[in-house]
Amino acid sequence: MQERIIQFLKESDGYISGEEMSQRLKMSRAAIWKHMQELRAQGYEIAAVPHLGYQLVTCPDKLLGYEIRTGLNTKIIGSKIIVLDTVTSTMDEAFRLGNEGCPEGTVICAEAQSKGRGRLGRVWTSPKSKGLYFSLVLRPCIPLNQLAQLTLMSAVAMAEAIEDISGLKPSIKWPNDILWEGLKLAGILTELRAESDQVKFIVVGIGLNVNSSLSQLTPGAASLKVAAGQAFNRNEVFQAILRSLEKGYVKILHREFGGIMEEWKKRSATLNKRVRITDASGSIEGEAIDLDQDGALLIRKDNGLIVKKSAGDVFLLR
Ligand code: BTN
Repeated sequence: MQERIIQFLKESDGYISGEEMSQRLKMSRAAIWKHMQELRAQGYEIAAVPHLGYQLVTCPDKLLGYEIRTGLNTKIIGSKIIVLDTVTSTMDEAFRLGNEGCPEGTVICAEAQSKGRGRLGRVWTSPKSKGLYFSLVLRPCIPLNQLAQLTLMSAVAMAEAIEDISGLKPSIKWPNDILWEGLKLAGILTELRAESDQVKFIVVGIGLNVNSSLSQLTPGAASLKVAAGQAFNRNEVFQAILRSLEKGYVKILHREFGGIMEEWKKRSATLNKRVRITDASGSIEGEAIDLDQDGALLIRKDNGLIVKKSAGDVFLLR
């Protein structure tokens, strides 16, 4: 019911009287008043003026399931949305739910993570209520060698959503760092549960620095707030991201990867650059010339040899 009240307040232009609400929501004015008190306790600022009624002044800076769900209009991504306060990592929660058989598209997000993790064993710093930290459980029927497509798709979806919501033009550093002016805004971690060569489910974990100030960011990182010079409503940013992920995921399911790859290349901060790439086998230097159809990076070394890398850490040299 609180969801409907919030929706009502959001849709009404100016004040809405208690009488009108009570008629349209078919509940007593006393019950409406009680809900208003509860909403205020959740951090909504709601003005109440005698003879005029109620008006929504500000929404709380909190991730709220119904704020995210209302008007989301996706079919798969966000089929179930779980909002938690502090967790070790949303990846842990997603694996637990994935093992229990949660529906495809389940999204688990948290206000903070005490052990947020990044690629290559790194830590993902997750200050409370400053970012979006979430994991998405997917169950696509695609062969293992096409998994990189999901990661590239997620990077494109993130870049497009960020651009839509903020007007910034983020670039993508292979495989999936979202950058603004060379600083990292968001990162993506793809993990999976497989049994005897069969993928049971995939978890895509995404962290985006939204409202962190400079002092809350690790060196080399940026937030939407720092980049755009304004704070963002995280529920709205989240909705934009989930919609964008849905668009990309549907393309993957329809085997329409070409367009995603083109978009990835257009936004690439890596292609046609001199790079050093480091992985377990060591380090090589050369020019990043292309991606292959599985999303691996092709590097032309100075001796002309072309090397293919499916994982690793890229340093942009010039
Ligand atoms: C990277 O760039 O190294 C990937 C970072 C991924 C961070 C996200 S935050 C939500 C999810 N939970 C985690 O512990 N990690 C991912």
